[in-house]
Amino acid sequence: MTTEQPPLSTPMIIRSARLADREGLVDVRIENGLITQIAERIDIPNARVYDAAGGMISPPLVDPHIHLDAVLTEGFPEPNHSGTLIEGIQRWSQRKPYLTAQDVAARAEEALRWHVAHGVLAIRTHVDVSDPQLTALKALLSLRERVKPWVTLQIVAFPQDGIYCYPQGPELLEEAVRLGADVVGGIPHYEWTREDGLRDVALAFELARRYNKAVDIHCDETDDDHSRFLESVANHTRLQHLEGRVTASHTTAMGSYNDAYAYKLIRILAQTRVHIVANPLDNIVLQGRFDTYPKRRGMTRVKELIEAGITVAAGHDSIIDPWYPLGTGNQVFVASMLAHVAHLTGSAQLPWVWQSITTAGAAVMGLESYGIQEGAPANIVVFHESTIADILRLMPRPRWVFSHGVLIAQTPPAITTVRWGNTEREVTFTRENISL
Ligand code: FE2
Repeated sequence: MTTEQPPLSTPMIIRSARLADREGLVDVRIENGLITQIAERIDIPNARVYDAAGGMISPPLVDPHIHLDAVLTEGFPEPNHSGTLIEGIQRWSQRKPYLTAQDVAARAEEALRWHVAHGVLAIRTHVDVSDPQLTALKALLSLRERVKPWVTLQIVAFPQDGIYCYPQGPELLEEAVRLGADVVGGIPHYEWTREDGLRDVALAFELARRYNKAVDIHCDETDDDHSRFLESVANHTRLQHLEGRVTASHTTAMGSYNDAYAYKLIRILAQTRVHIVANPLDNIVLQGRFDTYPKRRGMTRVKELIEAGITVAAGHDSIIDPWYPLGTGNQVFVASMLAHVAHLTGSAQLPWVWQSITTAGAAVMGLESYGIQEGAPANIVVFHESTIADILRLMPRPRWVFSHGVLIAQTPPAITTVRWGNTEREVTFTRENISL
């Protein structure tokens, strides 16, 4: 099905929309792909009008951490029987020889569509470069260019099998950066020794310096309370003056550190403005696997990090891959999981959860002109629901998704009714139908 769309120069109005940070409803005027006016009422003859009917509008959702090269691979050549992280890595190693450019591009593009359908227009993907052919990297570099008009795709060169415990690891990482990866990755906790872990971090920063790239390291994704590479990430950030351009992903070991050490670590992370990406879907099922009871949650210290002023975003990490067999590309589901596993259900905390898939993700990706404001690109997601709490509770697909003023995804509202006796009533899962 294709929908006929008018030329971009035709004015467009999103009517009666609610902004998360402003009282009352607004109209948003869009021309030539830009937001040109936000006001209580806008009338333009012949404008195309989308009536939000009091629903919330948001800048695009952001997924700052996913592995698009691995999406939709679970089950072949063998499923992850135990569900553990280590078996996931083994199954992925079995899958890698079957990778082709077409296979990677087809799966990744399909997952991108799932993201877009959920209002996600900015995505940072880690791509496994522990591969002498760099097949997945090359496929995703070309996909990045193909989707550029609609979706911002950033690529992290990610050494899944380690830099120093994998043949030609350092050379492959550098080659990936040279070929055009946007961000340099690392995986220090996976190296065989602590010394190699430190060299892993150092090399990522060295390549970032030489090629002027940002850094995003898979860091301390373990329940081992002795895994302490995040302090080294902060230190390199300070020494290279890369404040604000460095991200540490997962950092689940922070959930196991003693409080005195965690306190010191959070202080230096705040000072160096290192961003953190939590991945609650994967980590709530992958961590704690060596525990009997009580079982750890395997989460980084989200609440304490945010309270210290550190940017904490949330990533989807996996969709139907050897590490996580579920998922649909819905970042609202990710945020909901974060609210649950990080104890963020307080009324003061739900907005932080929303930020983790919007503004915090945008900060991690260094997105410019992000937000619903006059003069910004018309990248707008329109929800049926009118509050953050309702969106997090109902986990819907948005009504409309606009990229640079172009409608690129839409979901008609679902209608559910319940009938008993002689009464049939629509069920909206809100309090609006209750009359006393
Ligand atoms: Fe990851």
